[in-house]
Amino acid sequence: MTKVGIVVGSLRKEAFSKQIADNVAGLFPSGYETEFVEIGNLPLFNQDFEGDLGTPAEYTTFRNTVKGLDAFLFVTPEYNRSIPGVLKNALDVGSRPYGESVWNGKPAAIISQSPGAISGFGANHHLRQVLTFLNMPVVQQPEAYIGNSAELLDGGKITNEGTVQFLQSFVDTFVDLIKRHNA
Ligand code: FNR
Repeated sequence: MTKVGIVVGSLRKEAFSKQIADNVAGLFPSGYETEFVEIGNLPLFNQDFEGDLGTPAEYTTFRNTVKGLDAFLFVTPEYNRSIPGVLKNALDVGSRPYGESVWNGKPAAIISQSPGAISGFGANHHLRQVLTFLNMPVVQQPEAYIGNSAELLDGGKITNEGTVQFLQSFVDTFVDLIKRHNA
């Protein structure tokens, strides 16, 4: 069984990002299971945790969770044309201590979403920059920008046939990438 971690960049209870992630989780083929990764409980990164303060228990749990997963789907909103701080914090926590990043080499895919028309382009590409540095092979094409997300979600479900088809092709491409890297 290949395990795909889903990281949602919003902590909001009714987050469109989470609702979209729920829809996409259902598009993985048999042999794949998805698991949402908790990031909202991680204390803000402080390099003193690597010294005097010691490692917070939440960091250890999070790093072990990430280690046990084979690939990551990030579904995120855009905050001020970038990724939300909570998501950057989780990426930073997983990247440390130096040389022991739990992200290293794990395949990833990015979906940005916005209730607006620009579809989180800035967040998508800032996240791409970070994941590239973390040595994560990322799905390049198709790019997934989901705009007008409030209208797209009908009681939490994406019913637009074209969007479902697009997301299925996106997941299929991600699965191909995972197979190439985990072979
Ligand atoms: C936003 N929002 C936003 N939207 C956007 O398209 N580009 C942006 O740069 C921003 N900036 C931004 C900053 C902050 C601090 C907040 C709280 C919001 C609006 C955002 O897309 C909207 O709140 C979404 O609903 C957030 O996604 P979730 O929480 O529904 O997944």
